[in-house]
Amino acid sequence: MTEPANSFFVLISIVFVSTALFVSLRRKKSGSRVLPPGPSGWPIFGNIFSLGTMPHRALAGLREKYGPMIWLRLGSIDTMVILSSRVAAEFFKNQDLNFADRTVIDVLRCWDYHEGSVAVAPYGAYWRVMRRLLTTDILVAKRLNKTAPIRRKCVENMLAWIGEAASSDKARVGEGIHLARFVFLMNFNLLANLMLSRDLFDPDSKTGSEFFTAMNGLMELSGQPNVVDLFPWLRRLDPQGLRRKMDREMGKAMSIASELVRERIEEKKQNGGDDDRRDFLDVLLEFEGNGKDEPAKLSEKQINTFILEIFMAGTETTSSTIEWALTELLLNPDSKVKVEAELSLVVGSNRKVLETDIDQLPYLQAVVKETLRLHPPVPFLVPRRATRDTIFMGYNIPKNTQVFVNAWAIGRDPDVWEDPMAFKPERFIGSKLDYKGQHYEFIPFGAGRRMCAGLSLAHRVLHLALGSLLHEFDWEFDGRIDPKTIDMRDRVGLATRNYVPLLVVPKRRAA
Ligand code: HEM
Repeated sequence: MTEPANSFFVLISIVFVSTALFVSLRRKKSGSRVLPPGPSGWPIFGNIFSLGTMPHRALAGLREKYGPMIWLRLGSIDTMVILSSRVAAEFFKNQDLNFADRTVIDVLRCWDYHEGSVAVAPYGAYWRVMRRLLTTDILVAKRLNKTAPIRRKCVENMLAWIGEAASSDKARVGEGIHLARFVFLMNFNLLANLMLSRDLFDPDSKTGSEFFTAMNGLMELSGQPNVVDLFPWLRRLDPQGLRRKMDREMGKAMSIASELVRERIEEKKQNGGDDDRRDFLDVLLEFEGNGKDEPAKLSEKQINTFILEIFMAGTETTSSTIEWALTELLLNPDSKVKVEAELSLVVGSNRKVLETDIDQLPYLQAVVKETLRLHPPVPFLVPRRATRDTIFMGYNIPKNTQVFVNAWAIGRDPDVWEDPMAFKPERFIGSKLDYKGQHYEFIPFGAGRRMCAGLSLAHRVLHLALGSLLHEFDWEFDGRIDPKTIDMRDRVGLATRNYVPLLVVPKRRAA
């Protein structure tokens, strides 16, 4: 064979062998990338159109066809969805660490919010410090016991606002009030008092009303679907203008928080601060870390971010739960009668409901649980993110996969809940089932390392506020609402709430 013919065959062989090698390697790789089942998606958009306007409901509906764990591509984001209590148990018990990061939505990058946040912080030293501060210093039972009078006072104010509305002409003709708004304002003021020892909802305070407006903007914008979160390369274009709006609102809120923090620093310099008070802000200002893997002091920006975060995490979640609880009680009069009877037996008509009553009110506790089972305010929890390539239930889940744990679907999982769609607080009576993250069929506050850090406070506020509302007033639907055709859809936002705000008429109970 001639020299050129030889080289030709060598070249052909090299191309053939390397192609075969490449194909076999690819086969091996794709063979190992076994992903959970899921609906096939559109080019570019993936499964975005499967989400609808109530994604937690739409995705729950896919379980029948694809099973309790499904795979979606949302724009360019790989997403795993967990729909059953069995898969959730495996996830939180054995894989929590591999999924301990969070996805950060674009608007929360404004003012580098994500760098000072607890809720969207990557799993690491800063998150650990802030979480420890929250759970073992700020929201620890001993300190919460001390601040019980503040919560009672804020609930008292709310009852007085509602009392005024109850004696209005509108109430007399059966026109209802928007209950969630009253609860939201109470809660906002409550958090302001616990964090800053300030009434930020004082109608005479300009700072208070500006802060309230900016915080409302922040919550509204954080809850809006943003195309940039599905196609991150659109970030610079900001096609919906959400980043621009958020920059403005967050700027205002940060600057007011800054003012409040600086005032406190000055006050501390001048008189050493008020030792009896020691609110959240004092704890943050007095923090001293080791300066190695944790900061020596918290920066002003980290403190400001923390303040905004607590407002965002704690207001809508609580008001939406109470709005759903009252909706369900009005639709289920037997349960309403039972909870009212319990309150009148335990508390009586001569005094107010107190936090120390909660343990003696098992039916009220069951009503709160049943509401959170059917209407978890954060239905996908705060989405997790895979910290590394992980094998989960036999599937290969790539690093950075976003995870939705669908607490809404899990609360209705027919494998573990009898008659799952019915509102039956009795199912919790005499049962040890609670929402502290150990029972994976019931996870409205999440579970594992990243479960809700405000649970101890939320638990007290929910029972105190709902118990007081029921004890003080008798409630009816607004005269224009027909219970048979009431709209039970939910509106998705930072927290999920009634699609049509609940309008109810309060009637003061005779003493
Ligand atoms: C009804 C009331 C509330 C509900 C249903 C709720 C629910 C949740 C859920 C589902 C998560 C994510 C858990 C996970 O990923 O496993 C969460 C996280 C969080 N919540 Fe709550 N929450 C409530 C009230 C509060 C309150 C009052 C505060 C603060 C005072 C708070 C502070 C936080 C924080 C800081 C996180 C982030 C925790 C972390 O990433 O480590 N929450 N909450």
